[in-house]
Amino acid sequence: VNEWTRVEALDDSLANRPVLIRGRTQTIRPVGKKMAFLVIRENGFTVQCLVQAQPDSVSPQMVKFAAALSRESVVDVEGVVSIPAAPIKGATQQVEIQVKKLFCVSRAVPTLPINLEDAARSDVEIEKAIQAGEQLVRVNQDTRLNFRVLDLRTPANQGIFRIQSQVGNVFRQFLLAENFVEIHTPKLIAGSSEGGAAVFRLDYKGHPACLAQSPQLHKQMSICGDFGRVFEIGPVFRAEDSFTHRHLCEFTGLDVEMEIKKHYFEVMDVVDRLFVAMFDSLNQNCKKDLEAVANQYPFEPLKYLRNTLRLTYEEGIQMLKEVGVEIEPFGDLNTEAERKLGQLVLEKYGTEFYILHRYPLAIRPFYTMPCYDNPEYSNSFDVFIRGEEIISGAQRVHIPEFLEQRAQACGIEVKTISTYIDSFRYGAPPHGGFGVGLERVVMLFCGLNNIRKTSLYPRDPQRIAP
Ligand code: 4AD
Repeated sequence: VNEWTRVEALDDSLANRPVLIRGRTQTIRPVGKKMAFLVIRENGFTVQCLVQAQPDSVSPQMVKFAAALSRESVVDVEGVVSIPAAPIKGATQQVEIQVKKLFCVSRAVPTLPINLEDAARSDVEIEKAIQAGEQLVRVNQDTRLNFRVLDLRTPANQGIFRIQSQVGNVFRQFLLAENFVEIHTPKLIAGSSEGGAAVFRLDYKGHPACLAQSPQLHKQMSICGDFGRVFEIGPVFRAEDSFTHRHLCEFTGLDVEMEIKKHYFEVMDVVDRLFVAMFDSLNQNCKKDLEAVANQYPFEPLKYLRNTLRLTYEEGIQMLKEVGVEIEPFGDLNTEAERKLGQLVLEKYGTEFYILHRYPLAIRPFYTMPCYDNPEYSNSFDVFIRGEEIISGAQRVHIPEFLEQRAQACGIEVKTISTYIDSFRYGAPPHGGFGVGLERVVMLFCGLNNIRKTSLYPRDPQRIAP
């Protein structure tokens, strides 16, 4: 046999046909000395393979070899497809392979640091198993991350990162179809792009520099460079001090910047259509992945409206006030207040996805445009899923003198961003945009409780490996 068959494609249409597959040994079960059952997994699909001693083809040594394979090894199996008499438990494919040849391509160590069966169980299953007296090891988050390549093999993790891939895919396709240009801005920059202290500083050939906290300045400069509408998918670095369930030191930013004609609502319109399209696509195209995630980490599908709800910040704090949560009129919402508001919005409007806009200027970055009618507020917004922020966005200041003044007022050393400010001296259209945290979108869409679950190799204040 020269052609490879994918495990996923193994079905009864291939009965009695010879096939060649490659996969991992998920389980190995010897039965006496003359027989061994292997379950082979490829991309989440599994098939049962029977290695049985036969005078003309399969030797007892081969059965012994099969029985001695370690779990998670990579093997090539050549054999004939057969239809089993009874349904097969413990494999996704309902056919069996009668093995003729078996070749070990790469042997895994005999004892894995994580038991993948245990690592794939939900909390409820673990409780049940413990009560039934089963011996199992609860695999904690740190152990999972230390042995991430193994941990990534569980069905839930396979689902999470396929969903993440689809989020990026929809983001790109949607924006390209709306005449946005994909750009790539530098990650080595001279100064902080968001203000504040959360910056990784470094030495750039004798000059102080840092890792970009966002593509903010360069995406805006690209609007000055006449692209009209741009987006970027790239790494964002934050020297976070806080060790929380939703902060990473490196995450993937989905950034958008666009000219606006009249109003920052034009930017919110893009958020609205983009995210409704994204959620629709995830629900339609990632059913199997969502199911795999929900099997281990049960969650309810996200509730969202066809036209995304928009509330002003003032309306938001009023809703909180009515239930006894007092927010300073120009203060920020803490995590708890955001969650509470999410709950109130769900009860009143039936949605877990909404936009809060017209934030107080004082709590927004220096580049944010104040409201024309009341400069204590700003043309800005945040977007929430299940009561937690996934996006922040705004109209920007495009008047260089005013931008300089705003930077100074916010305590930013203007000379570190002088080339940025100068970009607006050669004619700059009104513009706005937003930034999305990819890991947060996946975490909150799937109702997960920790951003480390949706970062492939998370970087947090205590982790830079693997
Ligand atoms: O709210 P942030 O800091 O806004 C900006 O970077 C602006 N330049 C965006 C803009 O265009 N106005 O970050 C944007 C998003 C947040 O809403 C959040 O989803 C995510 O990035 N984010 C983080 N994700 C993981 N770990 C962190 N430490 C994050 N900080 C922000």
